[in-house]
Amino acid sequence: MAYKTKEWRNAMRVTVDYNYMMSRSLGDKGITDSELRAIKDKAEQAFDYVNDKRGRDDLYMGWTELPYNQDAIVSDILATAKEIRKKFKYFVVLGIGGSALGPSMVFNALKHLHHNELPPKLRGGPKFYVEDNVDPVRMQALLDVIEPEKTCFNVISKSGATSETMAQFLIIADILEKKGVNLADNMIFTTDACRGNLIKIDDKFGGKFKKYVLPDGVGGRFSELCPVGLLPAAVLGIDIKGMLAGAAYMDSICSKPNIAKNPALACAALMYITMQQGKNIHVLMPYSDNLKLMADWYCQLWAESIGKAVDYAGNTVNAGTTPVKSLGVTDQHSQVQLYIEGPYDKVITFISVKNYGTQMPIAYGYDDIPDVGFLGGHTMQELIQAENKATAYALMRAGRMNYTINMPEVNAFTLGQLMFMLELQTAYAGAMLGIDTFNQPGVENGKKATFALLGKKGYENKKREIDSAPPLDEKYIV
Ligand code: PA5
Repeated sequence: MAYKTKEWRNAMRVTVDYNYMMSRSLGDKGITDSELRAIKDKAEQAFDYVNDKRGRDDLYMGWTELPYNQDAIVSDILATAKEIRKKFKYFVVLGIGGSALGPSMVFNALKHLHHNELPPKLRGGPKFYVEDNVDPVRMQALLDVIEPEKTCFNVISKSGATSETMAQFLIIADILEKKGVNLADNMIFTTDACRGNLIKIDDKFGGKFKKYVLPDGVGGRFSELCPVGLLPAAVLGIDIKGMLAGAAYMDSICSKPNIAKNPALACAALMYITMQQGKNIHVLMPYSDNLKLMADWYCQLWAESIGKAVDYAGNTVNAGTTPVKSLGVTDQHSQVQLYIEGPYDKVITFISVKNYGTQMPIAYGYDDIPDVGFLGGHTMQELIQAENKATAYALMRAGRMNYTINMPEVNAFTLGQLMFMLELQTAYAGAMLGIDTFNQPGVENGKKATFALLGKKGYENKKREIDSAPPLDEKYIV
């Protein structure tokens, strides 16, 4: 069944405006129409490459079908979430990277910015935390504010072998067991269907844990629209069907191999062209506190997918641009000076919001002080939008490339669109670069080195390799 009316969906369409990337606005600092035409074939090939592989689990392309193939899972998640909301005071995600950034981002985007501080009646569900690190101070801080026996812990790990997540699990499991709590009553596993270590742990408990499957063909950073993100979102009372409908809507918008019609392909082409020009920093700057963590989520998606040493042909390419998180207007008073006057090595992507859902009028007062008085009678929404427009304009005038993703408002449907567009953009860009977008050998190497340093069996050679690295020279320590 279609989500809301066609008119509503069209009114909620997320669009991309890349005028300030083009020579029409930027003169010789911009991209010309002929440069765009020159990339047409490459963009079409990238579109075909991604399109041909849609849904292929063996190529980690299962994420393209998540908006369509989860009806039964969504029903199950909604029923489970209802129980959790009744039974538990706290909901804590244990995970890291792709298993944590998505749930944090959606929480930040679609819930009250002070959700956990709201009185229970207004909060309408459990307090929510994502434990995305192994900083002992952070874990202690969490334990100081939750009551573990009244907490549902969602352990999210595809492999069940990620040291950070499993350390969090061991600590919490020990605490619960010492309190006489049956782990399976307070924990839900989201993991691989049969291979992950969480499955082995569940086996030891006779299969008593509630489990959700992180599908085979869905990598961590592309997993927000599967149970990894859907369960935490549903527990928060977020409209998960709306998120999936938004993703499907964006998928339909991006169904043509044509830069002028497909916003994800347009963004990928812009990124590709600017990469070739040596612009190797890509700033994502949402003008919305609700989208602050979107920049974190996107940075991982882009960095882990596009930062690759070799291409498919085995050539060393060291591909990638460095994603940078920024927040409008806050970072106007921190980073924008550099963006406007520093090296020409950046592309700035703004996310602009048309309707913030609340205007926040600015009171009149102090008319005799012009720097203050002129603000009276305006609204904060007007102010943030004016500053967004002014920053894009100032960058353009300084010959700095920038483009804007326009969101009519921040809701489940538009967020689903935005996520899916950025995922498609990443897949197209990877295809243009001829790299494997879906692996992460660098991250895996780091994981192995950690195993070796902590004495994990089977990593003795790695430990020897690390120990044989040249000793640190005192003269370089100051
Ligand atoms: O995107 C990725 O693949 C990674 O960031 C993983 O999500 C992260 O390393 C956690 O892995 P796992 O889900 O196996 O615990």
